[in-house]
Amino acid sequence: MSERSDPQDGAAPLHEGGDAAPYRAQRGATSATLSTLPSSGIRRFFELLDGATDLISLAVGQPDFPTPAQITRAAADAMLAGHTGYTSNYGLLELREALSRHLEHRYGVYYRPSEELLLTTGVSEALDVSMRALLDPGDEVLVPEPGYVAYQPVVMMAGGVYVPVPTTPEDGFMLTAEALRARITPATKAVLLAYPSNPTGAVMTREALEQVAEVAREHDLFVISDELYDRLVYGVEHVCFASLPGMRERTVLLGGFSKSYAMTGWRLGYVAARADLLEAIMKIHQYVMMSAPTAAQYAALEAFHSAEEDVRGMIAEYDRRRLLLLRRITEIGLPLVEPRGAFYAFPNVRSVGLDGQEFAEALLEEERVAVVPGVAFGASGRDFVRICYAASYDELSEALDRIERFVRRRLPAAESPSLGQVPTAQP
Ligand SMILES: Cc1ncc(COP(=O)(O)O)c(C=O)c1O
Repeated sequence: MSERSDPQDGAAPLHEGGDAAPYRAQRGATSATLSTLPSSGIRRFFELLDGATDLISLAVGQPDFPTPAQITRAAADAMLAGHTGYTSNYGLLELREALSRHLEHRYGVYYRPSEELLLTTGVSEALDVSMRALLDPGDEVLVPEPGYVAYQPVVMMAGGVYVPVPTTPEDGFMLTAEALRARITPATKAVLLAYPSNPTGAVMTREALEQVAEVAREHDLFVISDELYDRLVYGVEHVCFASLPGMRERTVLLGGFSKSYAMTGWRLGYVAARADLLEAIMKIHQYVMMSAPTAAQYAALEAFHSAEEDVRGMIAEYDRRRLLLLRRITEIGLPLVEPRGAFYAFPNVRSVGLDGQEFAEALLEEERVAVVPGVAFGASGRDFVRICYAASYDELSEALDRIERFVRRRLPAAESPSLGQVPTAQP
């Protein structure tokens, strides 16, 4: 009999066949894998934000715009019309058809709506289910660093081995074929590409992506390409990795609605991949998520249908803020690779005599401006801070005045390093 008997006396239940104590003694309350995950480098920092007044936050990576009204209205209408149940595990077919047209129109890469597209609960879920579908224990994944905070945990939770590949200001924070090649082993299974980049704002040029494609071909690697910020590029082209010759078959393309359409709270993303890979990813999605949020799917349908002008308006406004930030940070004297995408800038603050963590904490305390210590995105980010410019122009301007005052107190203007030598991310 394998049924567990209920404890009569409040004691812990015994497992069948004997004494549970030695068995339980070997186990922690939570999974051993969990204890190997890095703790968030910014937790302590965000604790400091609690209760702060007169604060300008350039810390959180989400649009300050509300979702365009017609998108919200479409979702409300759909719900009032009774669309409040699950959808297909893959997501609404009509939305997959619209997504397919969108990707083909923007990037010239075609995915069959019936079997090559999956709607997910944000790119967050898309990353998780893709890793779990692709990786066996011990498989190595190469990830550009500094990089988004979730990459290492999702690789590790899938049983994979996270292998950071350094990117540098000298290379405009682009991933180089040379750095990739140096870290390839027989266990390397995939590269996680992440451009436009959070936190550096770097955008890969077509040429640089072609070199990554060459490495993927040579070593038979998969590429998981997180292109969540694809629409947020300024004066440069976003090249969809899957659109490069031969890459569609080895790419798992991840995208979403959070940033481009100001829809972070709706929780909607997608995976696009060849049918056999998508089927494997779907297998996990159907058990852990069933289907992406239904109201959000109706909202996204409306976004594709009518929000292009809103998106362009937001891009233009981010660009205006980006240029302000670039000019002011340069005047202040902090080395900065010109960010060309997303809504982040990643200046080096070492010249002020502080590392990124110290800089962020002191700036918060003395000037009530919140930025994120660069070390949160990997050890190589130690001397940097991430500034998010998805805040209003006026707030950003005021925050930059405060940053200037903060830096001047420590570094008189005469001592500011000259910036001419800092390369930009793009020609
Ligand atoms: C690079 C990157 N990927 C994925 C995500 C997760 O996005 P979501 O789950 O909202 O689609 C974020 C969020 O900030 C991000 O910056």
